[in-house]
Order: sequence, then C-alpha cells, then structure tokens
Amino acid sequence: MCGIVGYVGPAEPSTRPLDVVLEGLARLEYRGYDSAGVALVTEGGLAWAKRSGKLTNLTTALAEHPLPPATAGIGHTRWATHGGPTDANAHPHVSADGKLALIHNGIIENFRELRQELEADGVPFASETDTEVAAHLVARAFDQTGDLTEAMRQVATRLDGAFTLLAVHASLPQTVVGARRNSPLVVGRGDGENFMGSDVSAFISHTRHALELGQDQIVTITPDSIEVIDTEGNTVTPREYDVDWDASTAVKGGFATFMDKEIHDQPKAVADTLLGRTDDRGFLQLDELRIEESVLRSVDKIIVVACGTAAYAGHVAKYAIEHWCRIPVEVELAHEFRYRDAVVSEKTLVVAITQSGETMDTLQAVRHAREQGSKVLAIVNTYGSTIARESDAVLYTHAGPEVAVASTKAFLAQITACYLLGLYLAQLRGNKYVDEIAGYLDELGAIPEKVQRILDNADHIREVAREMQDTTSVLFLGRHVGYPVAMEGALKLKELAYIHAEGFAAGELKHGPIALIAEGQPVFIVTPTPRRPELHQKVVSNIQEVRARGARTLVIAEEGDHDVEPYADIIFRIPQAPTLMLPLLMVVPLQIFACELASAKGLDVDQPRNLAKSVTVE
Ligand code: G6P
Repeated sequence: MCGIVGYVGPAEPSTRPLDVVLEGLARLEYRGYDSAGVALVTEGGLAWAKRSGKLTNLTTALAEHPLPPATAGIGHTRWATHGGPTDANAHPHVSADGKLALIHNGIIENFRELRQELEADGVPFASETDTEVAAHLVARAFDQTGDLTEAMRQVATRLDGAFTLLAVHASLPQTVVGARRNSPLVVGRGDGENFMGSDVSAFISHTRHALELGQDQIVTITPDSIEVIDTEGNTVTPREYDVDWDASTAVKGGFATFMDKEIHDQPKAVADTLLGRTDDRGFLQLDELRIEESVLRSVDKIIVVACGTAAYAGHVAKYAIEHWCRIPVEVELAHEFRYRDAVVSEKTLVVAITQSGETMDTLQAVRHAREQGSKVLAIVNTYGSTIARESDAVLYTHAGPEVAVASTKAFLAQITACYLLGLYLAQLRGNKYVDEIAGYLDELGAIPEKVQRILDNADHIREVAREMQDTTSVLFLGRHVGYPVAMEGALKLKELAYIHAEGFAAGELKHGPIALIAEGQPVFIVTPTPRRPELHQKVVSNIQEVRARGARTLVIAEEGDHDVEPYADIIFRIPQAPTLMLPLLMVVPLQIFACELASAKGLDVDQPRNLAKSVTVE
C-alpha cells in the first residue's frame, strides 16, 4: 500500500519542497504508517531523513535536524511488506554513491534474483526491502545513460509485480521521475511547480488539475513540464481532469478524528452519490458505460467481487438486485473468486465494489473475469483509479476522500450506488416501470435526512459505548438485509476497538452461536421493520432467546417498534424506512458505537494497528 509524494518547484532552493511533501504525507498516511521518509535535492546534493513509526517521528526528527532548502523532493509513508518496520527499511532508499533516492509502493516479485545479481556485482545493500534493488538498478542505469527517465524506463521493464516508483538525482535539481504498474500514481499540474502522489489528496491544497497515468508508464516532471512515455519509449498523452472536491474534504474539519468526520459526512455521501443520475425522461444513467445495453439485457447472473466492508455492501445489494431485477446475484470475496474455478460466461456481469479502486485482490478478480469474457462494472469512489480504468463500465460513488482506514461513508455510498445499478438494470430489462423506479429513488432520497437524525441523537450510543470499554467479546445478529449489517458492525468493532466480535445470521443462532451466550455477553440485534412481520417476529424471538440465557441485549430498532421493548436492555432507535433502505440506517449506530468505544480505550481510530487503507498487495 504505502503513500508517495513528489514535488518540483522553483530554481531558488527553499523549504517549499519539504513543506509540500510533508503535507502530502500527512494526507496519505492512511495508506500506511510503519515508517516515513523524505529525500530532497539541495545545492549540496541529496539530503534525506527517515524514521520508523508514524509521520510524527519523522517530523520530530526533522525539527531537531533540519534539512537544507531544496528544489525538489519525494516522500514516502510505508506499510511494510518485505522487511520489518525499521529505520533501515524505511524509504527512501539511496544508491551507494548517495546521489539517487527512490521510493516505492507495491511489491517487486523478482527482487531476490535482482538482488543476487547486484550483490554478485559488489553492490552493498542497507535494507531487507524489495525496493532497494530498484534504487540500485536505476542509479546504475542513470550512470550509464545520464538520463533519469531512460534509466527508469529500462528498470521498469525488468521488474515483475506491482510498483509505483519515484526517483530524484542529485545532478537534476528540478526533476522527479515516476513509473507505475498496478499501483496508483497521479500527477498534479501546478503553476511553475508540479506534483505527484498516490492519490490527489497528496496535492489537492495546491492544485486541482490532475493527470491520470496508465499502466506501464513513465512520467517526468519539471516545474514547467510533464512528460509521459510508455515502457517502449513512445510518448503518451495522459488524460487531464479537474478534481471536483477541495482540500477541506480531506481534513478533519473540526472533528477530533477522520473517522468521526467521515461518519458525519454520510448524509452528504449518499446525497452526492444520488445526484444527477436521471435524464430528462426520468431514466437512470451510469457514469462511464462501455457495455452495450443489449449485453446488459442478456445478463443471466451477477457476481459481486469485493473485499472487507465493500463486500458487505455487496451482500446488502444482493437482496435488492435480486428482488428488483430477478437476476441471481452471488457475492464473493475477490481473492476467493479469483482462485476458485468460478462459472462465468459472457452473460455474467461481474460487479467490482471498491472504495479505493486499487485493492489488488479486487483488481485481479476484475482481470480474471474479463479474461473469461465477462463484462465488469466497477463501483468505485476514487476517480481514475486502476479498477475504474480497467472495467467495462463505472458507477462512481461520490463519498469524497475517505481517509480513516476503516470504511464508513464509502459503505453507505456503495450501497446507494449498488441500488442505483439495480434500478438501472430493472429499468433496462423492463422489470420496473419508470414511476416505480422514481418511488425507490424517493426512498433513497429520504435517507440523508434520516442518517442525519441518527447522528444528531447519538449521545446515548456514545454513553453506552464508553460504559462498555472493558468488553472483550460482542456478538451481532441480523436477518435478511440486517445480516450483512451485523457482519459490518462486528468488523467495525474488530478494526477500531480490537475487540473480538462476530456477526451472525439470526436464523443461525440455534445452530451454534447460542452456545456462546453466557451471563452478561453483549449481543447486538439488528431488528427488521415490524412492517415485515415474518422477519420481525423471528428476530424478536431471537432477542428473547439470548436474553433468557443471560445475554445483555443491545437492540437496533425502528422508532415505534414497541415489541422489542420488553426484551431489550438497551435500544438504539433509527427512523422508519422500507426494508431495503434500512441497512443505510441500521449500520450508523454500530459505526458510532465502535468509534466511541475505541476512542474511550485511547486507540487511534483513524489508523488502527496492522491495517492499511488500500490493500495493494495480495
Ligand atoms: C481495507 C480497508 C477496508 C476496506 C477494504 C476494501 O481492508 O481497511 O476498510 O473495506 O480494504 O477496500 P476497497 O478500497 O477495495 O473498498
């Protein structure tokens, strides 16, 4: 995963390169926080600093030992793969002569043989990383060619695996060269200065003009130019676009944590994802549809591929899409889909759901599906990301940048987008009339205000969460669309509060999980609406069953649902909504609960231990 930043600016050395790079790293730290480092091109040659641990360790070190003014710089925040999170393994990696510094996001799969080759040639290694081979290889190629772009091109063709590489050289005061394959890299066009980053948040406070790089491309930036070539050396014209959100959406905006802010961003995330989806006839439209309508009409199966929270959004979507479109929907973890001999054909529509658009398992599942002849539609939050580019069609969620590692607002936006897809297919295939679709869109349109009501009345949830900070195990039960919500609630508690938590289908209770119920065991129950009595009554019975065995019952129930009252130790109320809309509400108290409990334990809810925001390795 890792976050990378590059900057070139005016000829007069200044502190700007370091300031820009450190600001970018702060915004990208969600991608990894095992170590951080910077390298600057200064009048006296390269200067660099790196520290294991979070970015503050590096900034503290820089305050004690400042680096000289510079004209260009690169910076890296690491999620460790090869080699532990030590100072030595932190990026940048520097060539033996100290003249070239390089940073990397991804995994170089053939690094062992390359390292052996370099070591046999007497190149000394200072770290255990796969990255260091690239630093030495680019330095050697530069010594031979005197051209950093050409050196990077030559090395890129020798590397297997996934990489974004950025390099600077002491003899090139105003140049940064990057290369990418399977890992993200975007370029920011400034005025007399240019930028690179793992995503646009790295430079969004300086420019909104961005360029999207394709696979296997090499980019060279100077203050006044951006040049892109492919690995054959052909010139490429990258697509330019303007980022439609501003820097304020990538900062905490008055909240103590990104997690808290993003939970509060949810009404807007849903509203923005719904915006502008219908044409003047009331017909739904997708963003980038490169699939023939006749192909979509003939789809006989949908397979959702995703990881983590995005997969739970897919589980929710299954209920709606099957109900509206009468198409069978399978939901599969992307890594399991790829290595299973899944039955797919040209009539299978694979739907990839991903916030980042960079999750390696999901990307590989997309490629695998396309190789089998299936069409892939991606539901993605990050514009121009790899999965968006490689899919046949894209439906963007407009949740804005999600910075906290554990996903919240992306989940609501993903469910919303999946529902739009379901309604789109229902319209196209004639399963629903336009006025029926308009009715569902109205129900979706009412969600932001209902989420806001939950957020405005969350004191009780927070109070209970603080009270429960010593809890060691929590169970979550849900039925129908409440089942994936239960699993997502459990995931949030694991990720944020490091508490053992499991989500079960309420109907499974008597087939095993009930054995876990001992005196005082907290059990969350996600209750269906009483307007679906066949679901509701069964869950109310489940509440009684666990309570009778000593559980402490924490019940999520609609306003006005009095049937749960006799059996609930605690009730968290949510506004009333039709069954398929309820997941968008039911999950919110569970997010708030996990966030508050983790904060009460003194944990870092934005950057939980061992996790990373974008899992760009398999
Ligand atoms: C990581 C994150 C999760 C996220 C998952 C999928 O595990 O910590 O919050 O749900 O990746 O990410 P994606 O970007 O593909 O939605």
